[in-house]
Amino acid sequence: MKATFFTLAAAAGSACAQQSAYGQCGGQGWTGATTCVSGYTCVAQNSYYSQCIPGTASTKATTTVKATSTPVSTKATTTPVTTSTPASTKATTVATKATSSTAPASSGKVSYAGVNIAGFDFGCGTDGTCTVSGAVNPGSNGIGQMDHFVKDDGLNTFRLPVGWQYLVNGNLGGTLDATNFANYDSLMQGCLNSGAAACILDIHNYARWNGAIIGQGGPTNAQFDSLWSQLATKYKNNPKIIFEIMNEPHDVNITEWAATVQSAVTAIRNAGATANKILLPGNDYASASQFISDGSAAALSTVTNLDGSTTNLIFDVHKYLDSDSSGTHASCTTNNVAAFDTLATYLRANKRQAFLTETGGGPTDSSCLTDVCQELDALNANSDVFLGWVGWAAGAFDTSYVLSETPTLSGSTYTDVPLVTQCIAGKFH
Ligand SMILES: *[C@@H]1O[C@H](CO)[C@@H](O)[C@H](O)[C@H]1NC(C)=O
Repeated sequence: MKATFFTLAAAAGSACAQQSAYGQCGGQGWTGATTCVSGYTCVAQNSYYSQCIPGTASTKATTTVKATSTPVSTKATTTPVTTSTPASTKATTVATKATSSTAPASSGKVSYAGVNIAGFDFGCGTDGTCTVSGAVNPGSNGIGQMDHFVKDDGLNTFRLPVGWQYLVNGNLGGTLDATNFANYDSLMQGCLNSGAAACILDIHNYARWNGAIIGQGGPTNAQFDSLWSQLATKYKNNPKIIFEIMNEPHDVNITEWAATVQSAVTAIRNAGATANKILLPGNDYASASQFISDGSAAALSTVTNLDGSTTNLIFDVHKYLDSDSSGTHASCTTNNVAAFDTLATYLRANKRQAFLTETGGGPTDSSCLTDVCQELDALNANSDVFLGWVGWAAGAFDTSYVLSETPTLSGSTYTDVPLVTQCIAGKFH
C-alpha cells in the first residue's frame, strides 16, 4: 500500500492518556492518545495510522505531513474499524462467479493464498526512506499468526516486507547486517516452519533509497545487485522462498527500471538461486490495472534468466478496491474483476503469469466483503495465469489499522477478521 512520507515532531502538549504497546497513536482523524507508554514511541506508518512501537523516544507524538503526491489527501478515514467480530460462518452470499471472455484452462483455484506479515517495512515512505529505527519485528506474534493462518485457515503463503536500509543497517551497497538479518531470518524461518508453501521476501523501497531511484540517479544497479546477490546466497537452497525484487515502483522510467530488474535477476541466478521464483514489479505502484497500459508488461517481458528463458519469472501486481485504489479506506467501490480479466487475457496470450501480492479492504466492511470476494473469484477463475493472492496486512499492525488482517489473540486462540475468514481464506478452500 502507499504508505506516505512522514515526519516526527514533538507534541505541542497533550493531556491524553498514553497509548498501550502497539496501539494506534495518530493519523488523520485520530482523536485518541498520541503518546505511548514508557518504552514505546509513536511512529507514523502512513498518513492515516501511527502506532506505538518499541523505542525510547516515548514522549514524542507524530504529526503526519504529506510530502508526496498521493491521490488521497482529502480522504481521511475517521471511523475506527470495529474488529474481531467472530466470523464463524463462511460467506455464502457474495460468491458471484467471475466470467472471462476467453475460456481459461483454469483449475478454478489459485495455488497460493495468504497474508502479509508486515513490520520490518514500518518506517518506509514512498520515497524509499526506510528508517532502520522504524522497523518493527513482528516476532513471536507474527510467527504465531502464520502458524494460525496455516493450521486454522488453510492458507499457505506469507509475504514478509522489509526495508533495504534495515537489512544493511543503512550502509548502501554494504553487507547484510548480521543482527538485523538474523532478526528478519527468524521471521522467514517461522514462515517456513509454519508449513507454508511460499514465503515472499519483499524489499519494500518503492524502487528507491532515500528519495533517489535505483539506476536512475540514485543507487547504482550494482549496489542493488549486491543486496540481492547476498539474499539469494542465503536462501538459494529453499525454493519455497520467493524473491520479490521490489515493492511498488512508481514514477520510474520503465525502460530503465526493466534494466535494473534484469540486473537483479541476473545477480540472483548467478548466486546459484536457480529454482526460486522471482516477482517482477511494474510502475504505478505495481498496479494490476495499469500494468499493460503504462508499458510495464512490455518492458518487464524482456527480463530473462541466464539461459534466456522466463521460467519462474512472475509478474508482481497489486490492487486495492477503494475509491482511488490507494488502500487507505475502509470501504470498497470496485471488485476489480474487469481489470483482472483484461490482465488474464494478456497473460494467457503471452504465456506469462502474475501474483497479486497486495490487496485488501476494510476487514469488516460489507462493501469490501462483497468486492474482495468477487475479486478473488476472478483470480480463481483465471488460475492458469494467476498464481494467487496475499492480503494486506497482519503482522505488527494493530487490529485498529484500517486494513488490518491481524487476528485477535485471546489466550492461545486467534480470531480472524471477517475479510480473512470469508475472502482471503474462504475463497482458497
Ligand atoms: C527512458 O530511458 C530510456 C533509456 O535510457 C530513454 O531512451 C528514454 O528517453 C527515457 N524515457 C523518458 C520518458 O524519459
